[in-house]
Amino acid sequence: TKQQTWSQRFESALHPAIALFNASINFDIQLIEYDLTGSQAHAKMLAHTGIISPEEGEQLVAGLEQIRQEYRQDKFHPGIEAEDVHFAVERRLVEIVGDLGKKLHTARSRNDQVGTDTRLYLRDQIQQIREQLREFQQVLLDIAEKNVETLIPGYTHLQRAQPLSLAHHLLAYFHMAQRDWERLGDVSRRVNISPLGCGALAGTTFPIDRHYTAKLLDFEGVYANSLDGVSDRDFAIEFLCAASLIMVHLSRLSEEVILWASEEFSFVTLKDSCATGSSIMPQKKNPDVPELVRGKTGRVFGHLQAMLVMMKGLPLAYNKDLQEDKEGLFDSVVTVKACLEAMTILLQEGLEFRTQRLAEAVAEDFSNATDVGDYLAARGVPFREAYNLVGKVVKTSIAAGKLLKDLTLEEWQQLHPAFAEDIYQAILPQQVVAARNSYGGTGFAQVKGALLSARAQMTAK
Ligand code: ARG
Repeated sequence: TKQQTWSQRFESALHPAIALFNASINFDIQLIEYDLTGSQAHAKMLAHTGIISPEEGEQLVAGLEQIRQEYRQDKFHPGIEAEDVHFAVERRLVEIVGDLGKKLHTARSRNDQVGTDTRLYLRDQIQQIREQLREFQQVLLDIAEKNVETLIPGYTHLQRAQPLSLAHHLLAYFHMAQRDWERLGDVSRRVNISPLGCGALAGTTFPIDRHYTAKLLDFEGVYANSLDGVSDRDFAIEFLCAASLIMVHLSRLSEEVILWASEEFSFVTLKDSCATGSSIMPQKKNPDVPELVRGKTGRVFGHLQAMLVMMKGLPLAYNKDLQEDKEGLFDSVVTVKACLEAMTILLQEGLEFRTQRLAEAVAEDFSNATDVGDYLAARGVPFREAYNLVGKVVKTSIAAGKLLKDLTLEEWQQLHPAFAEDIYQAILPQQVVAARNSYGGTGFAQVKGALLSARAQMTAK
């Protein structure tokens, strides 16, 4: 006999296309373990408060556990007629424990149930993403530590600006990831609030204990307002914001790696394990990993936008629109995790910095021009005046096909009598970097200190 989902108010079955349209089982089956855990807590609470007997509670918990085993052994395949994971579990429970299974939904609604499931899922996923961020940071630190004295051109407007310690450049990404890690920790505090027991929207007539289920499920608190509890998705939007920022950061790094791997930059070599070839051009080695990360960034932004728009006009409390919160959330989680993993592997074993080429790059440009200005300014020439003078030298040097280091002392002194022999030392790339010893700057002493505090930050919980 076909099981009847709705009350006796309904006489005929759903149109098959509408059943399919309404169903979320195809994707919310991913929530099943959380749904079972949430239901077990609910059953325990029903027994704890005397709403059902202790034996009934135990049987419900055991029946739910059996469904968990069936699912894990790939023996639970609910069809579309179940509509969603909540109904699928309830039906199977009735098959296992009989009519008692029909008591599980006492003092509960799918509205507080699905909110509970989604939060448990997201709490887990956030934890996993935070661990992945730590691994990503660890790899950045490892490479940075080996490259404090490796120099790399620094850019503004993608024009050579001032040379940098490669470690300093990589640490910039470490700090972005650190904020991402902290942000997720922050989001987690608002994910970890229990809506269970809010009922459909107004609470329940039964003497439930919401704090009891919250404690069983390791929630840090309970929603204080039942309407808010069943219709809030701020926590999911916040997560998507945090996920979007992770993708922004990964995408910027990706873009740099792609540039660095080009013939024009030639700052890195892609190793075979992380690069792909062309089906026609045998010479090619393509940076598919960072390109895909850059490309996938858009979908996470899209999911954030979709969720914001989905929420903005919803009257309280539950509306079926809310079922649309899941696919974008799941896809964002999968995308962020995949991108973090791929970028971590790419950094760890897929890239080699071409240090010789980098050393040449920083020595063959005018990125030491600021230091000539600083040299004069330190000797009493007003900075703006020094700046103008140096601009003139750069212009004449370019015309003469020379670099600043090629100027004779006579030429320097014609420009300004304050120049002395030590100007040559002052404009060496290593010196240019070392001298930027202001707090947070690229000077080697600063970078060494920054590495130490970065290591210390990694131990935070
Ligand atoms: N599948 C639904 C969802 O994801 C579960 C909640 C259904 N509640 C309801 N009142 N129709 O939102």
